[in-house]
Amino acid sequence: MSADWWTSTVVYQVYPRSFSDSTGNGIGDLPGITARLGHVADLGAGAIWLSPFYRSPMADFGYDISDHCAVDPLFGTLDDFDTLVSTAHGLGLRVLVDFVPNHTSDQHPWFAASRSSRHDPQRDWYVWRDPAPDGGPPNNWVASWGGGPAWTLDPTTGQYYLHCFLSQQPDLNWANPEVVAAMHEVLRFWLDRGVDGFRADVVHLIGKDPLLGDDDPDLIPLPHVVLNHRPEAHPLLRDLRHLLDAYPHAPAMVGEVFLLDTNAMAEYYGNGDELHLSFNFAPLFSPWDAGLWRRHIERTEQALAPRQAWPTWALSNHDVPRHRSRYGGSEDVARSAAVLLMCLRGTPFMYAGEELGLTDADVPADQQVDPGGRDGCRAPVPWTRAAPHGWPGDQPWLPWPPDPGTASAEAQRQDPASMYHLYRRLIAVRNAHGALLSGDQQLLDTPDGVVGWRRLDPDGTQHVTVLVNFGGEPVDVVVDPDRDGEDAATLLVILSSDGLGERTAFTGRLGANQSVVLAGHP
Ligand code: GLC
Repeated sequence: MSADWWTSTVVYQVYPRSFSDSTGNGIGDLPGITARLGHVADLGAGAIWLSPFYRSPMADFGYDISDHCAVDPLFGTLDDFDTLVSTAHGLGLRVLVDFVPNHTSDQHPWFAASRSSRHDPQRDWYVWRDPAPDGGPPNNWVASWGGGPAWTLDPTTGQYYLHCFLSQQPDLNWANPEVVAAMHEVLRFWLDRGVDGFRADVVHLIGKDPLLGDDDPDLIPLPHVVLNHRPEAHPLLRDLRHLLDAYPHAPAMVGEVFLLDTNAMAEYYGNGDELHLSFNFAPLFSPWDAGLWRRHIERTEQALAPRQAWPTWALSNHDVPRHRSRYGGSEDVARSAAVLLMCLRGTPFMYAGEELGLTDADVPADQQVDPGGRDGCRAPVPWTRAAPHGWPGDQPWLPWPPDPGTASAEAQRQDPASMYHLYRRLIAVRNAHGALLSGDQQLLDTPDGVVGWRRLDPDGTQHVTVLVNFGGEPVDVVVDPDRDGEDAATLLVILSSDGLGERTAFTGRLGANQSVVLAGHP
């Protein structure tokens, strides 16, 4: 087994509630996921990341955990989980599970003990402080979703507790070694059950200013999660890495370092001794614009290359509107974006349904359930053309995305020109070219509105050129004729986002919103 498998695999994110339902209650579950793993393997992805399926009161749909080592009955049982893992492994898929280190549910027995008395042995497992002199919160930190204070006064003991998210999600105190030990046990529990790694939720937040100083008032009302950038995180991350490294199957951790500055994010890779991978939110939130994307690519390389840290790329997840919706809804643009995602240097993370080109569901006010307003991207994945689209009950927990029949996996599997087949072919091209999997990357001089780069195989024998037209007009591109004696006429189109021109020599002209993957003429 390659020690660095996480650099060369495509990771497919599954949001369990929305993926596939086996019981007919309208909520996706673990047996439902297991039944659809073939779809993920057929796509060519090498790993899945499962958002939380642990016991939870579901105030934040599972990111509020009340028992880290139990499956919530809504999602199934531990046996179901074991079956999921063994089925995934049988299909060649690794399994990453969500690890939520920063907070628990307020219904977790640890918090129940902690809030019971100032003298409880677990009091210090969470962050408690006296009110400010005016009786208000201890500092100016803002919680996510709603813009209110990150503190709630608990009448039982007259102190405030910290929660960077909902008041039902109290922050753990990682400065307490007992908390660290307890959370290490959680990792061991899942590693011993065979998982291949973790996606670590807002992991940069576990290192906090011990003095809990105010955030810069000029930056308020930004939530504290995007401002918390502290040295205290690094020894904690090194300990987590040490724990993972002791396992022979090379489990990996990808951190949700929710900072908007790529340089700051890069610090959480340490010197190869902290996170294996980290999400990079600046590009994820970026509009679809050639100039901006060129800068994101440059900045990512500049921040990570000196650390020999490996980039990640993601366009969508369960927290943001789907990128096709954010980029204006056009299928052509979403197809081009898929080429970008799969061909940049780094590990691509894709969010279930993006291979179907899903846009966000329009969720009427009376059906909205998420306190963070994220329902649209969590609409159920449509599997079959005919209603109820592979979901056995009457109505899933959220409305369908637009045109679920046409968008369904069944319909798209039957159409060789579909988005699904584009993703499948892209991943196949990626997996077949060492240059795309692990090669160096050089940005090319390209006209405005186009971003181009060349990937070079580590042994220098193969190169792949990628051109992405971000604009709605055709554009002529001269591919650096001086380099390697290459010119447009010697480059073969091995894949194009709209399927046009494939297996012919590149003409030098990119269609509107078209992306191409080019290789030297055989
Ligand atoms: C992360 C998760 C998000 C969750 C939050 C609190 O940002 O991705 O879904 O609400 O952390 O756990």
